[in-house]
Amino acid sequence: MNRQNGDAPLIATNDDAFQSKVSAMQAGYFEDFALSRMAEKYSGLRTGFGGFRRPPIINRGTYARMLLKETLVEAFLRHSREAGKVAQIISLGAGFDTHPFELSDNAKMLPQFHYVELDFPQVVKDKITLMDSTFSGKDSVFTACTCQKEQSSASGIIHRKEHPTAENTADTSKDQSPQLREEASLYSMKGVDLRDIEELSSVVDGLDVHPEAPTLILAEIVLVYMQPQDSDKLISFFSNRFTGSRAFMTIEHTLQESEFGRQMVQNIASRGSPLLGLNCYPSIRSQEARFKKLGWHHVRAQSLLEAFEKRIQNRLALNKIEMLDELEEWRLIMTHYCVVCATSGAGGVRLLNALDLTRYQDVPFRSYKNQDKNRE
Ligand SMILES: C[S@@+](CC[C@H](N)C(=O)[O-])C[C@H]1O[C@@H](n2cnc3c(N)ncnc32)[C@H](O)[C@@H]1O
Repeated sequence: MNRQNGDAPLIATNDDAFQSKVSAMQAGYFEDFALSRMAEKYSGLRTGFGGFRRPPIINRGTYARMLLKETLVEAFLRHSREAGKVAQIISLGAGFDTHPFELSDNAKMLPQFHYVELDFPQVVKDKITLMDSTFSGKDSVFTACTCQKEQSSASGIIHRKEHPTAENTADTSKDQSPQLREEASLYSMKGVDLRDIEELSSVVDGLDVHPEAPTLILAEIVLVYMQPQDSDKLISFFSNRFTGSRAFMTIEHTLQESEFGRQMVQNIASRGSPLLGLNCYPSIRSQEARFKKLGWHHVRAQSLLEAFEKRIQNRLALNKIEMLDELEEWRLIMTHYCVVCATSGAGGVRLLNALDLTRYQDVPFRSYKNQDKNRE
């Protein structure tokens, strides 16, 4: 896989995120069919690859991030279903995330949805290469899907083979987007530089997304790598582009006056991918104000520690997976990140309430899998 330009260090942050997820999975925090299969092939495609293993504190942090993000995605999907609508998810800087495959493979209980991933063209090409070498038609990731690569191969679409069943099709009669109802595409990915709003705008024009459909924008550790003026444009672009019930969820670093914080900022900068947004938006409060200023009407921002403690009541059970003694260090790391949920459009307050993590305390991770099992 070629790494050719000045964005190589940014692209490498995806490798780091992917490897951390594999490490957390291998430590036993969760199962992920696509991730484990992709991990087997990944090592062969990366020269000089040093292995996946991360220390327990990093594994637990990765799990916390995934748990929070996926809880919010799932909550959004259920909320859309209750409203009788097909949901759209646009994941910015999605990297090699496998959550859409997990959802599409297991989510009989979830509503029909369209999941779009955007990242640098190089990352999208690499993901397609990895998926191509990993999966064959008989794999369950693709049993309900076929992969159609477009000519540029910086873009891929997976279509649902069969039409959605009555069971999992939401009633879209109130929705002004009839083509969504007929549209069978479930997942697509596109290569784009998110700093280029004009290019992004034409990419979004070419997607099968409808401005009035409920839409969730995700940015998991992405915006902070951009100059604040670029990430601001992105946040307001999505607030204006979609007119229905919509949410923006981001996980970011925060700047703290601590030795750990200084070290974290230096370490990341020394890899050539500095946290460019951090000085402008250093705190939870500044993130809240930012989203409100950029067109998002209702905002909840909290540290990753607060969010995680709301989401999980029985934290001690995690010690059965991997023992963690460094509790002070764990709390310190988790307060150096925040999760922001912002909503707009009709029912924005209700949507923000649906994204309240305390509602999902002790709901098992990837609970839709268990529901699937219960149905069999
Ligand atoms: C830290 S990784 C996170 C990946 C994924 N969201 C996750 O959490 O597993 C950051 C991702 O953002 C992408 N990214 C950063 N700046 C970008 C830009 N200007 N345009 C497109 N993608 C970008 C990188 O390529 C990388 O995949």
